[in-house]
Amino acid sequence: MKPIAIACDHAALDLKGEIMKHLTDRGIEFVDYGTYENKSCNYPDYAEKVCNAIKEGKSELGILVCGTGIGMSMAANKCKGIRAACCTDTFSARFTRLHNDANVLCMGARVVGAGLALDIADIFLDTPFEGGRHQTRVDMVMALENKD
Ligand code: RB5
Repeated sequence: MKPIAIACDHAALDLKGEIMKHLTDRGIEFVDYGTYENKSCNYPDYAEKVCNAIKEGKSELGILVCGTGIGMSMAANKCKGIRAACCTDTFSARFTRLHNDANVLCMGARVVGAGLALDIADIFLDTPFEGGRHQTRVDMVMALENKD
């Protein structure tokens, strides 16, 4: 597996740290695209860095965390080739991999605690895309990128 691309804004610096520690404990490689400090910053900048890593083939999966997870997911879903899912529960994390082939997991540090966030991340990273009839639907989703 290619390294996970991960980033946060100032609101989720601590949660990103917990996730990176957990990934290290699991022996999963990652690249941290920032932010690296508590200073207020703009989440779209960090969403773009992770999405670029995926677009350039450096990573297959990414994790983005901000206050709600929503801003990061909105920004990421504007980037070509990205299917970002904002998850607050493990069921959604499992099925967004199985059915949507989501390639970016977004979470909100002000929404989920670290324990739940780590479970969500584990399930997201460990669940494969089911393919089959879901591939057709994912293709349809991606075709929307090219419509006016
Ligand atoms: C930052 O205050 C906050 O707006 C951001 O982390 C995120 O929640 C946006 O969606």
